[in-house]
Amino acid sequence: MEQKSIQREEWNNKLGFILAAVGSAVGLGNLWGFAYSSSEGGGAAFVILYIFVVLIVCIPIFVAEFALGRNTNVSAYLAPIKAAGNNWAPLGWLFIIAPIAIASYYAVVMSWTGEVFLLSLFDGLPKNASESANFFKSISTGNHVFIGQLFSLGLGSYIVSGGIKKGIEKLNLICMPILFLILFLLVIWAAFLGKAGEGYSNLLLNFDIKQLTNPTNISLAFSQAFFSLSLGIGVMITYASYLNKKSNLPKQAIQISFLDTLVGLMAGLITFPIIYTFNMSSSISESTIGTLFTTIPTGLGQYGLVGRLMAVLFFGLAYIAAITSMVSLLEVPVSTLIDKFNLKRKYASIYSFLLIFVIGIPSVKSISFLDNLDSIARTLLIGGGFLVAFLMGSVLPRSIRNRT
Ligand code: PHE
Repeated sequence: MEQKSIQREEWNNKLGFILAAVGSAVGLGNLWGFAYSSSEGGGAAFVILYIFVVLIVCIPIFVAEFALGRNTNVSAYLAPIKAAGNNWAPLGWLFIIAPIAIASYYAVVMSWTGEVFLLSLFDGLPKNASESANFFKSISTGNHVFIGQLFSLGLGSYIVSGGIKKGIEKLNLICMPILFLILFLLVIWAAFLGKAGEGYSNLLLNFDIKQLTNPTNISLAFSQAFFSLSLGIGVMITYASYLNKKSNLPKQAIQISFLDTLVGLMAGLITFPIIYTFNMSSSISESTIGTLFTTIPTGLGQYGLVGRLMAVLFFGLAYIAAITSMVSLLEVPVSTLIDKFNLKRKYASIYSFLLIFVIGIPSVKSISFLDNLDSIARTLLIGGGFLVAFLMGSVLPRSIRNRT
């Protein structure tokens, strides 16, 4: 079957590609997941394990994904097939299923994020721990969640329909500097909070050497690293398929991993001082993803107008981080529809939007469904990443040798 794409788009320049990849990597997973996993996984021991996994496992997989995308110049679904034949079609399927699954619940969490942003701006935040449970319930249940989910998916699809240069690259070019600026401001503000020191030491200094070999902690580090770096899911393969042949892939993989890890650490430098200053530490341990939407708003809610302003900044930042990740998730099915069925980008974006909206309905209705889907997706990512490494490191060299 003829699967060649006509006149594939390219990134305008190296910076555009790097910002888009960082935009995909930096998302809700960094703002909450990193600090949360560290609080669950022995503080500094988790941070060390995480950095170790990024350096030893993720960066090589990054390079493998980039190389696969850049050299095949097709979407993530077709890339393994083009590189290694039809036997690798299941990996292509994984690269369709996983981003659709993640986008379906990511849009729901974006809806909660947007609502907290609007509430901090126009209404107010919970003032104490007893108000906080109701607060989370009010943002996460009810039909209004659909509005946020539809808006987030719609906005993402609209940007993706604009194409690589005029849609995704432009979005990241505008959003990433704003994101880093807000992040920087919030880190500085949080440093002056009463118990900032206690927050820092719980995040970074509380070191229990036994945690380094604790299997739960190790698996937490793997799943957080793959999710946070958007690896094993076809996103980086797809983005790299729009690269020209001149780029230095290892250097870019290192830069992107560094920036993503930096954002995770900086987010911890914001959330931990808030949590300790406003005595919210007991609520993190019982956390699921929902805690980001109770602990931080309730902490900031106790700090009057300044607290509200900081909540506007924090949740505005979270929404920006999330939309740049959302477009990367959407680009995977969209580029596949374009490559495989020769669809126009506009229609590919509309179909992806509709499909993901429907698949997301159970996540709007049930947080435990959303949580389970998240755990399954995170496991798929690790599998996907290792399969790409195997494909690029072992299968491909062997088949090239046999051909020559
Ligand atoms: N990396 C994003 C985050 O940290 C989530 C994501 C995962 C985006 C996989 C794309 C692919 O929130």
